[in-house]
Amino acid sequence: MTVTVTPLDGPLGAEVKGVDPAQPLNDGDFAVAHQALLDHLIFVISDLEPDLQALADFSRRFGKLVPHILEQYHHPETSDVSIISTDPTTGAGRNTDMPAGAFWHSDLSYDRNPSDATLLYSVEIPPEGGDTLFSNLVAAYDTLPRETKDRIDGLNAIHRYGYRGDKAVVELNADQENSHPDALHPVVRTHRASGKKALFVNPGFTVAIDGMPEREGRKLLDELFEHATKPEFIYRHKWKPGQLVACDNRMTMHSATGGYDGQARTLWRMIVGGTG
Ligand code: SIN
Repeated sequence: MTVTVTPLDGPLGAEVKGVDPAQPLNDGDFAVAHQALLDHLIFVISDLEPDLQALADFSRRFGKLVPHILEQYHHPETSDVSIISTDPTTGAGRNTDMPAGAFWHSDLSYDRNPSDATLLYSVEIPPEGGDTLFSNLVAAYDTLPRETKDRIDGLNAIHRYGYRGDKAVVELNADQENSHPDALHPVVRTHRASGKKALFVNPGFTVAIDGMPEREGRKLLDELFEHATKPEFIYRHKWKPGQLVACDNRMTMHSATGGYDGQARTLWRMIVGGTG
């Protein structure tokens, strides 16, 4: 099967065809899919069977998978996969207290070694709602005014798990808390593999600018968040069951949109650890 990469109609993303994690995939073909992620920041593969081990093994080819901090939502067969789901009978989230990830964030940015990529597989999708938004933080950085670029150049930001902007805070047990101290990352991040520069702050986990008075840092972060969530940087993914969507966490952030109260939605999430 030939692997093809077709850019999506939007500011980021590509559709990859000819890749099926349940079938053997040679290194050359995998490299095409990997390059699609570097070039387009997210990719979508459709019409895949819910083969947990095959999807996890395919995800491992991007790097070591990291079990999510909330171990209560790990898949019973492997902690390398988390289940994101809502119970339609109770409305309760399987992953967080509101639709999982319904705030702008880049996975694991609160970690000292933030994630390279996330792969999400759609097991069950409601007829309406449940879209996921992805923002292109390379384009967001590129289009900042020169004076803002000069201002943020060399600054570091503080990232914290459970913060989530002004919304609810995730309750962590003592072990989870202790294993996740604040992390410091450059506000402008250079991608090790592609050399691209991107804004690396997100409303979900970035709490302050290191060394800057709190109010001034907050104002700067809010300006950057407002810029990075402008419609021109955003791709809205409308899920179909059996899709695998990968995003490069170094150069994008994403947000679930909810809007499917009382209906079932289940994703499997694989998080690839960081390589810098
Ligand atoms: C996530 O933030 O990883 C979940 C995204 C979604 O459920 O749409």
